Amino acid sequence: MEPGNESSMDTTEARLATLLAQAGSRWDERTGAVSMPVYRSSTFRHPGLGQSTGFDYSRTANPTRSVLEETLALAEGGRAARAFAFASGLAAIDTVLRLFEPGDRIVATEDLYGGTFRLFERMFRRYGIETVYADTADLSAVAAALADRRVQAVFLEVPSNPLLNVADIAAIVGLAAPRGILTIVDNTFLTFCRQRPLDLGADLVVYSATKYLGGHDDVVAGAVITRRADLAERVAFLQNGVGAILGPDDSWLLLRGLKTLPLRLARQEASAEALALWLLRQPRVGRVCYPGLTRHPGHEVLKRQSRGFGAMLAFEVADPARIPDILAGVRVFMFAESLGGVESLITFPAVQTHADVDPAVRDRLGISNRLLRLSVGIEDPEDLRQDLERVLQ
Ligand SMILES: Cc1ncc(COP(=O)(O)O)c(C=O)c1O
Repeated sequence: MEPGNESSMDTTEARLATLLAQAGSRWDERTGAVSMPVYRSSTFRHPGLGQSTGFDYSRTANPTRSVLEETLALAEGGRAARAFAFASGLAAIDTVLRLFEPGDRIVATEDLYGGTFRLFERMFRRYGIETVYADTADLSAVAAALADRRVQAVFLEVPSNPLLNVADIAAIVGLAAPRGILTIVDNTFLTFCRQRPLDLGADLVVYSATKYLGGHDDVVAGAVITRRADLAERVAFLQNGVGAILGPDDSWLLLRGLKTLPLRLARQEASAEALALWLLRQPRVGRVCYPGLTRHPGHEVLKRQSRGFGAMLAFEVADPARIPDILAGVRVFMFAESLGGVESLITFPAVQTHADVDPAVRDRLGISNRLLRLSVGIEDPEDLRQDLERVLQ
């Protein structure tokens, strides 16, 4: 079997694992290099006037980045897709937002990652691109927000950050597409190993590849993927025209990370589920947000649209005065601001990832001063549980 020849609809978990494990391994015919070489060259010799090897200047295309982009495209959307790698997740989202014009309106998930919110509010609003926020887990709220004729796009984080609310992607596409409204999905939390927004009708997928795709907390990167040739052409133009590209060394790190993504995610997901079930039984813990729990409001939708529930969870501690001690006291979890890596991290969203969100809005959404977010890594699950048990007592 030649990996990656299938459309994403019939890319089984095993085939995806083959595609990812061998990403870049057959590119260099001359030497047979199994690990994709890093092409640290900004420019490329032309064979003659008007001739090109396919690579001219690395902002436009670089071999290491191209192999990464081809891998991401196949994994997310099959052969019809194209992917573009950027210097960060926010650079990827910034590029997508440049598809819009002054006067356009975007409807976005209300509990978005704070950096994406800051991009919408502090950068793009100045240029006349206005974002309105809705509870995208509530279809009637989305329908009401889309009724405005200025709306050109709906931007979803599925599940959302940090509360893990779940938007029904196919149902929202059903509302948006007939009116020519684009559906853009930030798939950072679940990745194509679990959720395929393009198969559900979404037009564009964006990533912070810094998270699960890289997986080792050693690279900051982003990606945009689409199956629509018209959008791919416009994103390619912007990627080259604006230049927020991923460099060759970082492209290689991301390629290496991708090789183990299915293994990492499966392990992380199993540990996250076990921790969520354990946290539910702890007297010093209030609400537990994990979409794999049957009581989670997004459970049924995610069961339909994803092959798993991911490895992110959030929980409230009964006594918020304990939070400084919990954050200072963890020995296996690390108090740090990211997610998706092999190392488990604990985050205090109200003062870290969501500091840019208005405090009144945070309160209304439930991003309270008692909420902690866990990114569960690949450590021994019992070490993780004991670490939480110790700091909660
Ligand atoms: C869901 C989500 N999208 C986008 C971003 C931004 O990505 P980056 O930090 O790679 O710029 C983040 C960062 O935490 C995120 O969590």
